[in-house]
Amino acid sequence: AVVKRYQFDIVVKNVSRLCHAKPIVTVNGRYPGPTIYARDGDRVIVNVTNHAQYNLSIHWHGLKQFRNGWADGPAYITQCPIQRGDSYAYDFNVTGQRGTLWWHAHILWLRATVHGAIVIMPKEGVPFPFPQPHEEAELILGEWWNGDVEAAVKQGNQLGLPPNMSDAHTINGKPGPLFPYTYAVEVESGKTYLFRIINAALNDELFFAIAGHNMTVVEIDAVYTKPFLTDSLLIAPGQTTNVLVLADRPPCRYFMAARPFNDAPIPVDNKTAAGILQYKGIPTSVQPTLPLLPTPNNSAFANAYNSKLRSLNSGTVPRSVDRRLFYTIGLGTNPCPSCLNGTRLVASLNNISFVMPKVGLLQAHYFNLSGVFRQDFPDKPPKAFNYTGAPLTANLGTLLGTRLSRVAFNSTVELVLQDTNLLTVESHPFHLHGYNFYVVGRGVGNFDPEKDPAKFNLVDPPERNTVGVPTGGWTAVRFRADNPGVWFMHCHLELHTMWGLKMAFVVENGNGPEQSVLPPPKDLPLC
Ligand code: C2O
Repeated sequence: AVVKRYQFDIVVKNVSRLCHAKPIVTVNGRYPGPTIYARDGDRVIVNVTNHAQYNLSIHWHGLKQFRNGWADGPAYITQCPIQRGDSYAYDFNVTGQRGTLWWHAHILWLRATVHGAIVIMPKEGVPFPFPQPHEEAELILGEWWNGDVEAAVKQGNQLGLPPNMSDAHTINGKPGPLFPYTYAVEVESGKTYLFRIINAALNDELFFAIAGHNMTVVEIDAVYTKPFLTDSLLIAPGQTTNVLVLADRPPCRYFMAARPFNDAPIPVDNKTAAGILQYKGIPTSVQPTLPLLPTPNNSAFANAYNSKLRSLNSGTVPRSVDRRLFYTIGLGTNPCPSCLNGTRLVASLNNISFVMPKVGLLQAHYFNLSGVFRQDFPDKPPKAFNYTGAPLTANLGTLLGTRLSRVAFNSTVELVLQDTNLLTVESHPFHLHGYNFYVVGRGVGNFDPEKDPAKFNLVDPPERNTVGVPTGGWTAVRFRADNPGVWFMHCHLELHTMWGLKMAFVVENGNGPEQSVLPPPKDLPLC
């Protein structure tokens, strides 16, 4: 196989946006960072050297890292962070995966500026299952803060409040269109383009549209979908969506735009990021036309869009279930004597808010270190209640702990994630490391274990690594636990992850070395 080598130097660079200059943490001085190109079957080695003031680690979001959690990257889960002055080589094989994924820092909120695309082409000679596009481009949707992000987070935590919202949404690091920085992609009339869209925003699900142009969705999270035409799409933090766009409109300049979707009773953020679809030969003085995006709280659009997502190939959806898990998602407040108002916000699964350990959980598991984590994460909440009824504001007594769920090798797991109205209902994009799962069902209100499973799609459910749990609703996923190791699962809204909306699975080894976690690499960072 081909070996693809990359050098990532983590360096601080001065960048200005919205007329504000500030030093940001970057890879190789670039924001967004460099794209990793590989082919299915390649071995990729990314040597990361840290020159910045923060210790950090990089996660290759969506790559399965079979038996090789050492290359997965979440700090304190599969490795200790890379200290300033040190290097770590992420060494992994791309096996049976192709499409658009991405990489990002996986500690603090550093992924705000430390992120980039991963483009995996099919094996040599294997075509796309759709017409070959003329050209392609990556569109990374993100967020920009005028101030220092880590300082804002710290301040918020001291107050026991969320930090300030970002000051702009961005496309490829550029807010557009009122500022000198606007991303533009040039197209030729009559040609078809493949856009690889990545939501790297920290806290917002986003609608995305291109004025005058429909998009054909062909892939999500590096899995082909049954193609469908849409004028807007919805993408949650962590997710990727590939679309084909035919440049068949009168040659002109058209805006592409992204704006948050939010149907929860919390403040709406309606900052719009814009880029330009520029037909060749049209002078840049021509004023672009704006796309029509769904209104920010349009859950009808969101539900309809999500139900159109179907895998192109039926895959191997588990039909029987060995292990049934039901996790409630809750927000709450816990006492905090050192916080200004005496409480702090916590977020929990089955009423447990995850506490980050001081050493890597994968090492602790591999070397059998005791006292680092427990393996008694409950399969269901402590008691059933009306999850999505009237808001529950009672003292929740959220428990804290580094508790993991132990899963037998190769067992089939069904996980229902249930949003609750503890403080507020809200949608949550959940990401599982080390796996793709099949999204077999979703609905509003309380999951009904008697009736809802009968409606599951076991034929062509979307297969992905990040799924949105609808506001005041539920999502059911299934996967086969065939990748041994310690795998993080969390809400991909940085705010909620920070408050503890996360846990991890310990997937046992199977039989013999071929079904066991690989030995750790020699340069694995230690704490
Ligand atoms: Cu994209 Cu654990 O993250």
